[in-house]
Amino acid sequence: MNKDEISDMGPIGVFDSGFGGLSILRDLRQVLPQYDYLFLGDNARAPYGSRSYQLVYEFTLQAVKYLFSRGCRLVILACNTASAKALRTIQQRDLPTLDPSRRVLGVIRPTAEQAGRLSHTGHVGVFGTPGTIGSGSYDIEIKKLHEGFHVYGHACPMWVPLVENRESDGPGADYFVKKDVEALLSQSPLIDAIILGCTHYPLLLDKIRRYVPDGVKIVGQGAIVADSLRDYLMRHPEMERRLSRGGTCEYLTTEEPEKFSPLASVFVREPVSAAHVTLA
Ligand code: DGL
Repeated sequence: MNKDEISDMGPIGVFDSGFGGLSILRDLRQVLPQYDYLFLGDNARAPYGSRSYQLVYEFTLQAVKYLFSRGCRLVILACNTASAKALRTIQQRDLPTLDPSRRVLGVIRPTAEQAGRLSHTGHVGVFGTPGTIGSGSYDIEIKKLHEGFHVYGHACPMWVPLVENRESDGPGADYFVKKDVEALLSQSPLIDAIILGCTHYPLLLDKIRRYVPDGVKIVGQGAIVADSLRDYLMRHPEMERRLSRGGTCEYLTTEEPEKFSPLASVFVREPVSAAHVTLA
């Protein structure tokens, strides 16, 4: 490998509004451990779930530009809200001027692709933030890919704050999870698969399992996104060649690292020592 090729290589950027994207990062590193990763959490401005299209777009674009400036050739928006509200505009409007050779990928499309495999009845439930559910992105993507499918969305505005505030194991979480599970399942008795359409929600999995009847699958996105990225890189060797392979992982947060690192360590199940960044 010559010098030019090496200087054209960089880590995979993984972005989320907060901690949730770490649940995706963990699976990415398990399936594709050979690459370097740079995680960025915009914790100081999380949650994004109830923010306007314009703000989610502006914040996400700032994050993407920052990750590009740190050498990332490929950025995964490990956030459904950002994927629903900002991804398309960034791909279509910003990327061509920023750098057409770089890529920004989201988490909704790969998850929607799997719906046909996950549901036998064709009736799929989706939990998400108000932003994701309100955007109709899952409904649109799943129906585009799987004819005749029915999609039932339910927004859970309290779930992200429960996770961000380390309340996901407490009795408050039981109250909200039970209420939201019942609200989703009351939309159709035929729902046999529920997509956790927010990367924070796997942290509430134990609680969710408690209230979802046996026989209804609960689908997290980590493994789906990781498998989808592996396939993407096989189909795009020109991008794969530009990913550095040191097996490292760095963490960045817009919040104070002393606040971020302890909870981040819980998500990724290893010690995290994050650095602070300011996005503008
Ligand atoms: N984890 C993000 C998602 O997947 C968003 C959480 C939030 O900031 O509201 O939607």
